[in-house]
Amino acid sequence: MGIGRLSDGLALTPPMGWNSWNRFGVKIDERLVLETAEAMVSSGMREAGYRYVVIDDGWMAPKRDRSGDFVADPEKFPSGIKDLADRIHALDLRFGIYTDAGTKTCQDLPASLGYEFRDARRFAEWGVDYVKVDWCHTEGMGPRALYAKWAMALHAARRPIVLSICEWGRARPWEWAGRIGHLWRTCWDIQPEWSSILTILDRQAELHPYAGPDHWNDPDMLEVGNGELTSDQSRAHFALWSILAAPLMAGNDLRTMSDEVREILTAPEIVAIDQDAAGRQGRRVRHEGDVDIWIRTLGANGDCAIAVLNRGPVAREDHIVLEEIGVAPRTNVRVRDLWKRIDVGEVQRGIVIATSPNSATVLGLNPQ
Ligand code: GLA
Repeated sequence: MGIGRLSDGLALTPPMGWNSWNRFGVKIDERLVLETAEAMVSSGMREAGYRYVVIDDGWMAPKRDRSGDFVADPEKFPSGIKDLADRIHALDLRFGIYTDAGTKTCQDLPASLGYEFRDARRFAEWGVDYVKVDWCHTEGMGPRALYAKWAMALHAARRPIVLSICEWGRARPWEWAGRIGHLWRTCWDIQPEWSSILTILDRQAELHPYAGPDHWNDPDMLEVGNGELTSDQSRAHFALWSILAAPLMAGNDLRTMSDEVREILTAPEIVAIDQDAAGRQGRRVRHEGDVDIWIRTLGANGDCAIAVLNRGPVAREDHIVLEEIGVAPRTNVRVRDLWKRIDVGEVQRGIVIATSPNSATVLGLNPQ
């Protein structure tokens, strides 16, 4: 540990799964989590790549036990966390849990400061595969040292566990967290609103050099299916997160989601952008008025995905010269609509792209 990037192969592509926080807050219990895991299978999400079922803040009892171990809230999780993890594993899914590096969680429940090795060991005994470590109540502490301690504690627990660092991007984690954990938050909490999605997006534009297999920028969990986001906004959110090689952690109610929401979350050619094995995070090549153009290079033969994002309320048409996105002049480029999954033709010099208000057009470009 300490030299170079983490490369244990636990997150070769950005983790995919579900987390309880965005939709349920602290109102979680074992029934909700199991029903969610079952819905992940029956909806086709597991098949589409979603693996981790993660319980966020609110799972723990207000006090540790006499020996100092974490205890699950007995009303919410009467069968205990080990039983829950076993049932999730039986569905061929993985189980994730939450704690906080400081003295209390963000909801003022017991947290892990001084208990890192004990908690990591307990999580390993329970069969935890993924830990999100939050940063509330850490006054005066250095995130680098404390998260490094967490990495050591997980290592000592001898179970492969993904470490999700959640200090909200305050101490520029992209510069150091890749040596310690598999993903790190780059921003404050997302809200199910268009303005929140755009604000977060703007913070990601310069972060592409820092991500790659086993170390990912985390612009926060998905809000697809939550709040008042329109279907165009949800699609844009999902596609941009895929261009960003973001972890895809659904944050909605999987048990009751509409077909439309399910189709967004499982769109095969959009998920494939996110999970591209080369792991190169996309970047913004144009940011002008209401239009953004984002591009992500895929695979090894010059293929790429582009998203033209219309941030504003008016439909528009934008012209892109292929050289602007790195395609050599006089190359024939095949263009595919990655939502509709249809080829839309070939272009040589440039392309005119129409986008509805508050939406993103997402194309695959395949130079011949
Ligand atoms: C912080 C994190 C959120 C969530 C809550 C839980 O705000 O950033 O993602 O975990 O804490 O209290």
